[in-house]
Amino acid sequence: MSYPKIKKAVIPAAGQGTRLLPATKVVPKEMLPIIDVPMIQHIVEEAVRSGVEDVILVTARHKEAIENHFDFNFELEESLDQKHKKDLAEISKSIGRLCNLISIRQKNPLGLGHAVLCAAPVVGNEPFAVLLGDDLIDAEVPCTRQLINIYEKEGHSVVGVMEVPRAEVSKYGIVGGKSIRSRLMEVSHLVEKPAPDAAPSNYAIPGRYVLSPKIFEYLRKTLPGKGGEIQLTDGLELLAKGDRLLAYEFEGTRYDTGDRLGLIDATLAFALKRPDLAPGVRELLRKYLAG
Ligand code: G1P
Repeated sequence: MSYPKIKKAVIPAAGQGTRLLPATKVVPKEMLPIIDVPMIQHIVEEAVRSGVEDVILVTARHKEAIENHFDFNFELEESLDQKHKKDLAEISKSIGRLCNLISIRQKNPLGLGHAVLCAAPVVGNEPFAVLLGDDLIDAEVPCTRQLINIYEKEGHSVVGVMEVPRAEVSKYGIVGGKSIRSRLMEVSHLVEKPAPDAAPSNYAIPGRYVLSPKIFEYLRKTLPGKGGEIQLTDGLELLAKGDRLLAYEFEGTRYDTGDRLGLIDATLAFALKRPDLAPGVRELLRKYLAG
């Protein structure tokens, strides 16, 4: 049986980013860079490398910089072209060509589940991916592609999971269920940010999902949960019970870029992978570690 191809991704980007104040007072947290590439560009590139064509950004007031980033910037690109700085002009233009960006407002901050539901009129009756902007995942096969491969084979919604220490389960949506085969689990239960002794497992969802459009029916029925917000995790719990939900332990390294140390971790890891920067960064690290 063949299932519909996944061409749409929803990226919730309406949060205030208070974990990274004061940087996020005026600049959307999604625009903070890992070296010279805004975090949201890494996320959109993951979606595009996974086969996504339409990126649906669920946004809020004061987030226009994100939309502008994925558009052309004629003044800049013209002036770079005229100065014969073709390489720089191309860097700018290539971002404008990455995808179709469709943006929709979440007018009230009612939670992640509500943000995903805001995208329903644009997603329509198609399966789609969800990528959260605070989670950067470095993987040979993009994490979203790994989940799409499972969806295209199994025909059921799937969340990406990773094992975390018990002490950290309260930072994540946690899944419980039984193993079907290597790396794949049938989910029977989910809890948003449980206390360590109430967690159904230590498999956490770090912000990657491929969902059937049925999730929208369940999100419409989801009551406010943790923090009084409509949680995506609670909508997924209804989907797991009323339909079917899988969890896939993806391959790759995840960075929590919504957190200061996570941001430094990602910056160092990405810098050390770049041939133009790695030697200089190694030198700097040696200097600071010796000091
Ligand atoms: C959100 C989700 C949570 C998920 C996490 C991943 O929480 O609600 O289920 O595990 O993202 O980063 P947030 O970190 O936005 O509070």
